[in-house]
Amino acid sequence: METLRLTVEAGNPESRASRRAIARAAEILRAGGTVAFPTETVYGLGANALDATAVAKIFAAKERPGWDPLIVHIGERAMLLQVAAGVNEEAGRLMDAFWPGPLTLLLQRHPGVPELVTAGLEKVGLRMPAHPVAHALLVAAGVPVAAPSANRFGRISPTNAFHVAEDLEGRIDAILDGGDTTHGVESTVVDVRERECVIYRPGIVTLEQLRSVCRGEVMFRTELEGGESAAPAPGMGVRHYAPQARLVLVEGIQPGLEAALMVEVNRLEEAGEVVGVMAPEGFTAALMLMRKKPFDLRGFTMGYNTVHVYDWGSWAKPDELAHKLYAGLRWLDAAGVTAIVCPLPEPVGIGVAVRDRLLRAGSGK
Ligand code: TXA
Ligand code: MG
Repeated sequence: METLRLTVEAGNPESRASRRAIARAAEILRAGGTVAFPTETVYGLGANALDATAVAKIFAAKERPGWDPLIVHIGERAMLLQVAAGVNEEAGRLMDAFWPGPLTLLLQRHPGVPELVTAGLEKVGLRMPAHPVAHALLVAAGVPVAAPSANRFGRISPTNAFHVAEDLEGRIDAILDGGDTTHGVESTVVDVRERECVIYRPGIVTLEQLRSVCRGEVMFRTELEGGESAAPAPGMGVRHYAPQARLVLVEGIQPGLEAALMVEVNRLEEAGEVVGVMAPEGFTAALMLMRKKPFDLRGFTMGYNTVHVYDWGSWAKPDELAHKLYAGLRWLDAAGVTAIVCPLPEPVGIGVAVRDRLLRAGSGK
């Protein structure tokens, strides 16, 4: 199939051309087609959540297994009761605090939601995105939209329309191009059906933020179910968010971390690998200086091969690391590296989500 490219003018989702693109995308969704669209986290691949035939197209395009449930997106609260059978007080508080925004709530499924959407589970993931293009699209479509990240299953989530095309060109009806996403890492997924608030997937809304709003206890799912050995949640425990190159993760705190990174780069390079580095700002300069070799902005020469260095952003700003994480991994893949050396941020704030994605991407399963 041919994938239609629809473009929203940068910074101007209200212009006539932008509104026309959004209206066309909404029409395709209403007619049972698939449209990739920007949200504040990553691009989603959407279809009408109440139409099982349309939802099946998402699974086919992504080659996603049927056991992995989809998040349903809504533009307005009025749509909530088409999707969820009920909302308790804790869920209401979280919606008031974080919607529209990067928080997905697991609620009791409305019987009208096809089982395909929830992978047969009785709970449904629900989110109201804050991105102006996503919001306008959802309101114009007038239906709840099921949308996983717009990548092939297991691969790196897309943070711009070009990434989407890399994975899904020719497999979906349209891409609504709204530029780069804001946060770069996915929404936080929480279950508030019981007294506790259980985090299924860490994301942009942090543990600290959830604690400031929830009356009940807030915990990670692994804590609730007895650590890493517990049965995986859907979509967990498999290699996910993964680049094609092998990911080599380095743990530690500065300044030792930078030296440890360098040791890995040298070791891999001597083993004949083409090495890529996710290098935080400041680290890059040191990496280059240590070698005293000529370099350009895209990489520098040392030993036999070129080491490709991606400028990841400030190590002190986890939100910046989140924003550039997936773009960096894709960039290094495109450069043709065989191994990517990457330091693990501390598990604080959004750093928890960045670590989670890197550990899954490096899990090798
Ligand atoms: O930021 C985001 O959440 C992005 C944008 C597009 O909204 N979406 C996204 O969807 O990351 P996806 O499909 O790539 O990840 C959804 C994950 C599932 O793999 C699963 O872990 C969890 O959310 N999930 C969704 N519905 C669930 C359910 N009913 N029960 C348990 N977990 C669920
Ligand atoms: Mg995904």
